[in-house]
Amino acid sequence: MARTRLLAGNWKMHKTRTETVEFAEKLAHLSSGMTTEKAKGYPELLVCATFTALPGLMEPLQKSNTGLGAQNMHEADHGAYTGEVSVAMIKELGCTYVILGHSERRMYFAESDAAVAKKTLVALDHQLTPIVCVGESLEERENGDTSKRIAAQVGAVLDVLKTRQDVVSERLVIAYEPIWAIGTGRTASKEDAEVVAKAIREQVKAELGDHVADAVRVLYGGSVKPENIADFLSEADIDGALVGGASLEAESFFRMAQNSAL
Ligand code: PGA
Repeated sequence: MARTRLLAGNWKMHKTRTETVEFAEKLAHLSSGMTTEKAKGYPELLVCATFTALPGLMEPLQKSNTGLGAQNMHEADHGAYTGEVSVAMIKELGCTYVILGHSERRMYFAESDAAVAKKTLVALDHQLTPIVCVGESLEERENGDTSKRIAAQVGAVLDVLKTRQDVVSERLVIAYEPIWAIGTGRTASKEDAEVVAKAIREQVKAELGDHVADAVRVLYGGSVKPENIADFLSEADIDGALVGGASLEAESFFRMAQNSAL
């Protein structure tokens, strides 16, 4: 099955609302000369902004066919959870994606595998596409524990999805982001990233079957930039990239889109 490539920007805690609209206008300008024929080979484009920047960002992004996503959400529909945001709240602002379980959230906000799994189910249940992040620390990699760590993180999500045949698990996106490669300028080799991406797909296949495994998109993340994105995308099981730093400038984001076009 041909999976649609995805280029997703993770803006983390960067950009005011004004700055995000400036980005969207610049991106629209950069992509304005593109022919329809050429646009067909481009990956699906997405930016995940802070909650405060989400209102009013969907429309300016539409000019460059770029989707909008959030960077987190709470698993409850509503309730006494001070400072949290629900799935309905981000959907209302035009989000079609949500990043879940980013390593920074796992590390600084103590998000557990179980919590990430719960959020994933809620997102799918509400027709939102979750980008579930998994990845090993440097210590885990050096101790040879990479596959064990990834399998545990992915397994927690699949265990929950297995219980719910009615949700469209095909929509799931999993981003493999080695923690030691995030924001460090170090990347996994494309071969190492493919080994993990393939193992993730095998695990999905074992738990949810061939059809879901064929449809699920696996992204690589960690110091992706215009110069190296094509290398990762040349691998059979890598369907796109989740990009932090290099997604903050419209020119760099657009160059990554160009460099990952088919
Ligand atoms: P980076 O971040 O591209 O700046 O390494 C990736 C991420 O954290 O998603």
